[in-house]
Amino acid sequence: MFNAKITGTGSYLPKKIVTNKDFESILDTSDEWIYARTGIKQRHVIADHESTSSMAEIAANNALQAAGVDASEIDLIIVGTSSPDRVFPSTACILQHKLGAKGGAAFDVQAACSGFIYALGIANQFIKAGGAKKALVIGAEANSRILDYSDRNTCVIFGDGAGAVVLEASEELGVLSTHMHSDGQYQDLLYVNNPIKDQKQEGDQAFMTMHGNDVYKVAVKTLSRIVDETLEANNMLKSDVDWLIPHQANIRIISSVAKKLSMPMEKVVLTIENQGNTSAASVPLALDQAVRDGRVKKGEIVLMEAFGGGFVWGSALVKM
Ligand code: UT7
Repeated sequence: MFNAKITGTGSYLPKKIVTNKDFESILDTSDEWIYARTGIKQRHVIADHESTSSMAEIAANNALQAAGVDASEIDLIIVGTSSPDRVFPSTACILQHKLGAKGGAAFDVQAACSGFIYALGIANQFIKAGGAKKALVIGAEANSRILDYSDRNTCVIFGDGAGAVVLEASEELGVLSTHMHSDGQYQDLLYVNNPIKDQKQEGDQAFMTMHGNDVYKVAVKTLSRIVDETLEANNMLKSDVDWLIPHQANIRIISSVAKKLSMPMEKVVLTIENQGNTSAASVPLALDQAVRDGRVKKGEIVLMEAFGGGFVWGSALVKM
Protein backbone atom coordinates (compact mmCIF):
# COMPACT_ATOMS: atom_id res chain seq x y z
CA MET A 1 0.00 0.00 0.00
CA PHE A 2 1.30 3.44 -0.94
CA ASN A 3 1.36 6.62 1.13
CA ALA A 4 0.09 9.92 -0.27
CA LYS A 5 2.82 12.56 -0.30
CA ILE A 6 2.50 16.29 -0.97
CA THR A 7 5.11 16.89 -3.68
CA GLY A 8 4.20 20.43 -4.72
CA THR A 9 2.12 23.40 -3.58
CA GLY A 10 0.75 26.45 -5.37
CA SER A 11 -1.64 29.32 -4.88
CA TYR A 12 -3.22 32.37 -6.42
CA LEU A 13 -4.64 35.60 -5.06
CA PRO A 14 -6.50 38.10 -7.26
CA LYS A 15 -4.81 41.47 -7.76
CA LYS A 16 -7.62 43.66 -6.41
CA ILE A 17 -7.36 44.38 -2.68
CA VAL A 18 -10.23 45.72 -0.56
CA THR A 19 -9.10 47.18 2.76
CA ASN A 20 -11.15 47.60 5.94
CA LYS A 21 -11.03 51.34 5.32
CA ASP A 22 -12.74 50.79 1.94
CA PHE A 23 -15.78 49.41 3.81
CA GLU A 24 -16.06 52.44 6.08
CA SER A 25 -17.65 54.54 3.33
CA ILE A 26 -20.31 51.94 2.41
CA LEU A 27 -21.13 50.27 5.75
CA ASP A 28 -21.61 51.07 9.43
CA THR A 29 -18.24 49.54 10.34
CA SER A 30 -14.66 50.51 11.09
CA ASP A 31 -11.13 49.27 10.54
CA GLU A 32 -10.77 49.10 14.35
CA TRP A 33 -13.85 46.86 14.78
CA ILE A 34 -12.91 44.48 11.97
CA TYR A 35 -9.26 44.15 13.01
CA ALA A 36 -9.96 43.77 16.73
CA ARG A 37 -12.72 41.15 16.26
CA THR A 38 -11.16 39.15 13.42
CA GLY A 39 -7.50 40.02 12.79
CA ILE A 40 -8.35 41.01 9.19
CA LYS A 41 -6.95 44.15 7.53
CA GLN A 42 -7.64 43.42 3.86
CA ARG A 43 -8.87 40.74 1.46
CA HIS A 44 -8.42 39.97 -2.26
CA VAL A 45 -11.39 40.12 -4.64
CA ILE A 46 -11.61 38.62 -8.12
CA ALA A 47 -12.07 40.68 -11.28
CA ASP A 48 -15.14 40.25 -13.49
CA HIS A 49 -13.21 38.16 -16.03
CA GLU A 50 -11.95 35.74 -13.35
CA SER A 51 -13.71 32.73 -11.81
CA THR A 52 -13.17 29.98 -9.27
CA SER A 53 -11.76 27.73 -12.00
CA SER A 54 -9.46 30.44 -13.37
CA MET A 55 -7.97 30.98 -9.90
CA ALA A 56 -7.72 27.21 -9.39
CA GLU A 57 -5.95 26.87 -12.75
CA ILE A 58 -3.14 29.22 -11.74
CA ALA A 59 -2.78 27.63 -8.29
CA ALA A 60 -2.78 24.15 -9.85
CA ASN A 61 -0.16 25.06 -12.47
CA ASN A 62 2.09 26.47 -9.73
CA ALA A 63 1.71 23.26 -7.72
CA LEU A 64 2.37 21.08 -10.80
CA GLN A 65 5.50 23.07 -11.58
CA ALA A 66 6.74 22.75 -7.98
CA ALA A 67 6.14 18.97 -8.12
CA GLY A 68 7.69 18.56 -11.57
CA VAL A 69 4.50 16.85 -12.73
CA ASP A 70 2.77 17.41 -16.08
CA ALA A 71 -1.00 17.94 -16.09
CA SER A 72 -1.34 14.92 -18.40
CA GLU A 73 -0.07 12.67 -15.58
CA ILE A 74 -2.87 13.72 -13.19
CA ASP A 75 -5.48 10.99 -12.72
CA LEU A 76 -7.60 12.66 -10.01
CA ILE A 77 -8.71 16.26 -9.47
CA ILE A 78 -10.73 17.25 -6.41
CA VAL A 79 -11.76 20.87 -5.87
CA GLY A 80 -13.11 21.96 -2.50
CA THR A 81 -15.41 24.90 -3.18
CA SER A 82 -18.73 26.42 -2.16
CA SER A 83 -18.60 29.06 -4.87
CA PRO A 84 -18.31 26.97 -8.04
CA ASP A 85 -18.33 28.38 -11.57
CA ARG A 86 -21.58 26.54 -12.30
CA VAL A 87 -23.98 24.27 -10.37
CA PHE A 88 -22.73 21.65 -12.80
CA PRO A 89 -20.44 20.60 -14.35
CA SER A 90 -18.09 20.67 -11.41
CA THR A 91 -15.35 23.27 -11.18
CA ALA A 92 -12.94 20.29 -11.13
CA CYS A 93 -14.19 19.22 -14.59
CA ILE A 94 -13.86 22.75 -15.96
CA LEU A 95 -10.39 22.96 -14.43
CA GLN A 96 -9.36 19.60 -15.90
CA HIS A 97 -10.12 20.96 -19.37
CA LYS A 98 -8.28 24.23 -18.69
CA LEU A 99 -5.21 22.30 -17.56
CA GLY A 100 -5.27 20.11 -20.63
CA ALA A 101 -5.65 16.96 -18.54
CA LYS A 102 -7.98 14.24 -19.83
CA GLY A 103 -9.74 11.11 -18.69
CA GLY A 104 -9.05 11.00 -14.95
CA ALA A 105 -11.68 11.47 -12.26
CA ALA A 106 -12.63 15.08 -11.48
CA PHE A 107 -15.22 16.27 -8.99
CA ASP A 108 -15.97 18.96 -6.42
CA VAL A 109 -16.35 18.56 -2.69
CA GLN A 110 -18.80 20.87 -1.02
CA ALA A 111 -17.76 21.05 2.61
CA ALA A 112 -17.75 24.84 3.09
CA CYS A 113 -14.57 26.05 4.81
CA SER A 114 -13.45 22.44 5.38
CA GLY A 115 -13.54 21.74 1.64
CA PHE A 116 -9.78 21.41 1.22
CA ILE A 117 -9.37 19.15 4.27
CA TYR A 118 -12.20 16.93 2.98
CA ALA A 119 -10.69 16.90 -0.52
CA LEU A 120 -7.29 15.95 0.92
CA GLY A 121 -8.87 13.19 3.01
CA ILE A 122 -10.66 11.74 -0.02
CA ALA A 123 -7.59 11.93 -2.28
CA ASN A 124 -5.51 10.28 0.45
CA GLN A 125 -7.93 7.33 0.51
CA PHE A 126 -7.93 7.09 -3.29
CA ILE A 127 -4.14 6.91 -3.39
CA LYS A 128 -3.82 4.48 -0.50
CA ALA A 129 -6.37 2.17 -2.11
CA GLY A 130 -4.55 2.29 -5.46
CA GLY A 131 -7.33 4.24 -7.21
CA ALA A 132 -5.06 7.14 -8.19
CA LYS A 133 -1.33 7.82 -8.51
CA LYS A 134 -1.09 11.58 -8.95
CA ALA A 135 -3.82 13.88 -7.69
CA LEU A 136 -4.47 17.59 -7.66
CA VAL A 137 -6.21 18.69 -4.47
CA ILE A 138 -7.48 22.24 -4.50
CA GLY A 139 -9.39 24.73 -2.37
CA ALA A 140 -10.76 27.64 -4.44
CA GLU A 141 -13.35 30.25 -3.63
CA ALA A 142 -14.94 33.26 -5.29
CA ASN A 143 -16.62 34.26 -2.03
CA SER A 144 -17.24 37.80 -3.29
CA ARG A 145 -19.81 36.33 -5.72
CA ILE A 146 -21.94 35.03 -2.82
CA LEU A 147 -21.61 38.01 -0.48
CA ASP A 148 -24.21 40.66 0.16
CA TYR A 149 -22.14 43.86 0.33
CA SER A 150 -24.77 45.52 2.49
CA ASP A 151 -24.42 42.84 5.22
CA ARG A 152 -21.60 43.83 7.55
CA ASN A 153 -21.80 40.46 9.33
CA THR A 154 -20.35 38.66 6.33
CA CYS A 155 -18.90 40.90 3.63
CA VAL A 156 -16.01 42.22 5.72
CA ILE A 157 -14.91 38.72 6.69
CA PHE A 158 -14.48 36.82 3.42
CA GLY A 159 -12.03 37.03 0.52
CA ASP A 160 -11.20 35.20 -2.71
CA GLY A 161 -8.30 32.96 -3.71
CA ALA A 162 -7.11 29.44 -4.47
CA GLY A 163 -4.53 27.00 -3.16
CA ALA A 164 -3.45 23.63 -4.54
CA VAL A 165 -1.29 20.64 -3.75
CA VAL A 166 -0.06 17.75 -5.87
CA LEU A 167 -0.50 14.50 -3.94
CA GLU A 168 1.46 11.50 -5.23
CA ALA A 169 1.64 7.81 -4.37
CA SER A 170 4.91 7.35 -2.52
CA GLU A 171 6.81 4.90 -0.39
CA GLU A 172 7.75 7.79 1.91
CA LEU A 173 5.42 8.87 4.71
CA GLY A 174 3.12 11.74 3.70
CA VAL A 175 -0.45 12.21 4.87
CA LEU A 176 -0.42 10.49 8.28
CA SER A 177 -4.14 10.76 8.99
CA THR A 178 -7.20 12.80 8.10
CA HIS A 179 -10.31 13.28 10.21
CA MET A 180 -13.68 14.46 8.90
CA HIS A 181 -16.86 15.22 10.81
CA SER A 182 -20.17 16.98 10.34
CA ASP A 183 -23.32 17.94 12.24
CA GLY A 184 -26.21 19.21 10.11
CA GLN A 185 -28.25 20.46 13.07
CA TYR A 186 -26.37 23.77 12.72
CA GLN A 187 -27.31 24.37 9.08
CA ASP A 188 -29.14 27.65 9.80
CA LEU A 189 -26.16 29.31 11.48
CA LEU A 190 -24.04 29.57 8.34
CA TYR A 191 -25.43 28.97 4.88
CA VAL A 192 -25.93 30.18 1.34
CA ASN A 193 -29.53 30.13 0.14
CA ASN A 194 -30.34 28.31 -3.06
CA PRO A 195 -31.93 30.67 -5.60
CA ILE A 196 -32.94 27.71 -7.80
CA LYS A 197 -35.12 26.26 -5.06
CA ASP A 198 -36.10 29.42 -3.20
CA GLN A 199 -37.35 31.29 -6.28
CA LYS A 200 -38.70 34.11 -4.13
CA GLN A 201 -38.60 36.40 -7.06
CA GLU A 202 -36.93 36.55 -10.37
CA GLY A 203 -33.33 37.67 -10.11
CA ASP A 204 -32.85 36.32 -6.57
CA GLN A 205 -29.20 35.80 -5.84
CA ALA A 206 -27.42 33.34 -3.61
CA PHE A 207 -26.04 35.12 -0.54
CA MET A 208 -24.22 33.98 2.54
CA THR A 209 -25.83 34.33 5.98
CA MET A 210 -23.74 33.88 9.14
CA HIS A 211 -24.68 34.05 12.82
CA GLY A 212 -21.03 34.67 13.63
CA ASN A 213 -21.10 34.59 17.41
CA ASP A 214 -22.92 31.23 17.57
CA VAL A 215 -20.55 29.80 14.96
CA TYR A 216 -17.59 31.10 16.93
CA LYS A 217 -18.56 29.28 20.14
CA VAL A 218 -19.00 25.88 18.48
CA ALA A 219 -15.85 26.34 16.36
CA VAL A 220 -13.59 26.92 19.37
CA LYS A 221 -14.90 23.84 21.23
CA THR A 222 -14.89 21.58 18.19
CA LEU A 223 -11.42 22.47 16.92
CA SER A 224 -9.95 21.90 20.33
CA ARG A 225 -11.44 18.36 20.31
CA ILE A 226 -10.11 17.56 16.85
CA VAL A 227 -6.56 18.46 17.87
CA ASP A 228 -6.73 15.75 20.58
CA GLU A 229 -8.31 13.26 18.17
CA THR A 230 -5.59 13.81 15.56
CA LEU A 231 -2.68 13.47 17.97
CA GLU A 232 -4.18 10.38 19.64
CA ALA A 233 -4.74 8.67 16.27
CA ASN A 234 -1.03 9.04 15.53
CA ASN A 235 0.30 8.38 19.04
CA MET A 236 1.90 11.80 18.94
CA LEU A 237 2.50 14.49 21.50
CA LYS A 238 1.76 18.18 21.02
CA SER A 239 5.51 18.74 20.86
CA ASP A 240 5.77 16.48 17.79
CA VAL A 241 3.88 19.02 15.66
CA ASP A 242 6.17 21.52 13.90
CA TRP A 243 3.54 23.76 12.33
CA LEU A 244 -0.14 24.55 12.75
CA ILE A 245 -1.82 25.56 9.48
CA PRO A 246 -5.34 26.53 10.49
CA HIS A 247 -8.36 27.68 8.55
CA GLN A 248 -8.16 31.47 8.71
CA ALA A 249 -11.58 32.44 10.06
CA ASN A 250 -10.71 34.51 13.09
CA ILE A 251 -7.40 35.22 14.83
CA ARG A 252 -9.06 34.58 18.20
CA ILE A 253 -10.17 31.07 17.14
CA ILE A 254 -6.70 30.35 15.76
CA SER A 255 -5.02 31.53 18.98
CA SER A 256 -7.22 29.29 21.09
CA VAL A 257 -6.28 26.21 19.00
CA ALA A 258 -2.58 27.18 19.23
CA LYS A 259 -2.96 27.47 23.01
CA LYS A 260 -4.52 24.02 23.12
CA LEU A 261 -1.44 22.72 21.29
CA SER A 262 0.87 24.74 23.61
CA MET A 263 2.24 26.12 20.37
CA PRO A 264 3.83 29.59 20.16
CA MET A 265 2.22 31.82 17.51
CA GLU A 266 5.54 31.84 15.57
CA LYS A 267 4.76 28.20 14.71
CA VAL A 268 1.29 29.05 13.38
CA VAL A 269 1.01 30.06 9.73
CA LEU A 270 -1.16 33.17 9.56
CA THR A 271 -2.55 34.77 6.41
CA ILE A 272 -5.76 36.17 7.85
CA GLU A 273 -4.55 39.76 8.15
CA ASN A 274 -3.91 40.13 4.41
CA GLN A 275 -6.32 37.58 2.95
CA GLY A 276 -9.35 37.44 5.26
CA ASN A 277 -11.33 34.22 5.32
CA THR A 278 -11.04 32.48 1.95
CA SER A 279 -13.13 29.45 3.07
CA ALA A 280 -11.87 26.24 1.43
CA ALA A 281 -8.85 28.07 -0.02
CA SER A 282 -7.40 29.31 3.26
CA VAL A 283 -5.46 26.19 4.36
CA PRO A 284 -3.74 25.49 1.00
CA LEU A 285 -3.03 29.23 0.55
CA ALA A 286 -1.30 29.32 3.95
CA LEU A 287 0.55 26.05 3.28
CA ASP A 288 1.89 27.32 -0.03
CA GLN A 289 3.02 30.59 1.51
CA ALA A 290 4.91 28.80 4.30
CA VAL A 291 6.50 26.28 1.91
CA ARG A 292 7.61 28.99 -0.52
CA ASP A 293 9.05 31.32 2.13
CA GLY A 294 11.03 28.40 3.56
CA ARG A 295 9.28 28.06 6.92
CA VAL A 296 7.76 24.61 6.32
CA LYS A 297 10.51 22.17 5.34
CA LYS A 298 10.62 18.61 4.06
CA GLY A 299 10.25 16.08 6.88
CA GLU A 300 8.37 18.44 9.20
CA ILE A 301 5.01 17.58 10.76
CA VAL A 302 2.14 19.90 9.85
CA LEU A 303 -1.30 19.93 11.45
CA MET A 304 -4.04 21.44 9.30
CA GLU A 305 -7.57 22.03 10.56
CA ALA A 306 -10.78 23.71 9.42
CA PHE A 307 -14.36 24.38 10.48
CA GLY A 308 -17.29 25.67 8.45
CA GLY A 309 -20.96 25.74 7.51
CA GLY A 310 -22.86 22.51 8.11
CA PHE A 311 -21.18 22.38 10.49
CA VAL A 312 -18.33 20.43 8.91
CA TRP A 313 -14.90 20.20 10.43
CA GLY A 314 -11.75 18.24 9.86
CA SER A 315 -8.01 17.93 10.25
CA ALA A 316 -5.03 16.44 8.49
CA LEU A 317 -1.66 15.51 9.95
CA VAL A 318 1.00 15.52 7.26
CA LYS A 319 4.69 14.74 7.10
CA MET A 320 5.98 17.10 4.45
O1 UT7 B 1 -15.14 30.23 8.25
C1 UT7 B 1 -16.30 29.57 8.57
C2 UT7 B 1 -16.57 29.59 10.03
N1 UT7 B 1 -16.79 30.94 10.46
C3 UT7 B 1 -16.28 31.33 11.61
O2 UT7 B 1 -15.60 30.59 12.26
C4 UT7 B 1 -16.67 32.70 12.10
C5 UT7 B 1 -16.78 32.70 13.59
N2 UT7 B 1 -17.27 33.97 14.11
C6 UT7 B 1 -16.51 35.06 14.19
O3 UT7 B 1 -15.39 35.11 13.73
C7 UT7 B 1 -17.08 36.25 14.95
O4 UT7 B 1 -18.27 35.87 15.56
C8 UT7 B 1 -17.33 37.51 14.06
C9 UT7 B 1 -16.00 38.16 13.73
C10 UT7 B 1 -18.04 37.13 12.79
C11 UT7 B 1 -18.15 38.54 14.82
O5 UT7 B 1 -17.50 38.89 16.03
P1 UT7 B 1 -18.28 38.84 17.43
O6 UT7 B 1 -17.33 39.30 18.43
O7 UT7 B 1 -18.83 37.45 17.59
O8 UT7 B 1 -19.42 39.89 17.21
P2 UT7 B 1 -21.01 39.69 17.27
O9 UT7 B 1 -21.50 38.95 16.07
O10 UT7 B 1 -21.39 39.19 18.61
O11 UT7 B 1 -21.50 41.17 17.13
C12 UT7 B 1 -21.22 42.17 18.14
C13 UT7 B 1 -21.75 43.50 17.64
C14 UT7 B 1 -23.19 43.44 17.17
O12 UT7 B 1 -23.83 44.66 17.52
P3 UT7 B 1 -24.80 44.74 18.79
O13 UT7 B 1 -25.89 43.74 18.53
O14 UT7 B 1 -23.93 44.38 19.96
O15 UT7 B 1 -25.24 46.17 18.76
C15 UT7 B 1 -23.07 43.37 15.67
O16 UT7 B 1 -24.19 43.88 14.99
O17 UT7 B 1 -20.99 43.94 16.51
C16 UT7 B 1 -21.87 44.26 15.43
N3 UT7 B 1 -21.20 44.01 14.16
C17 UT7 B 1 -20.39 44.92 13.58
N4 UT7 B 1 -20.01 46.16 13.94
C18 UT7 B 1 -19.15 46.80 13.13
C19 UT7 B 1 -21.26 42.90 13.38
N5 UT7 B 1 -20.49 43.07 12.29
C20 UT7 B 1 -19.95 44.31 12.38
C21 UT7 B 1 -19.07 45.04 11.57
N6 UT7 B 1 -18.69 46.27 11.99
N7 UT7 B 1 -18.58 44.57 10.42
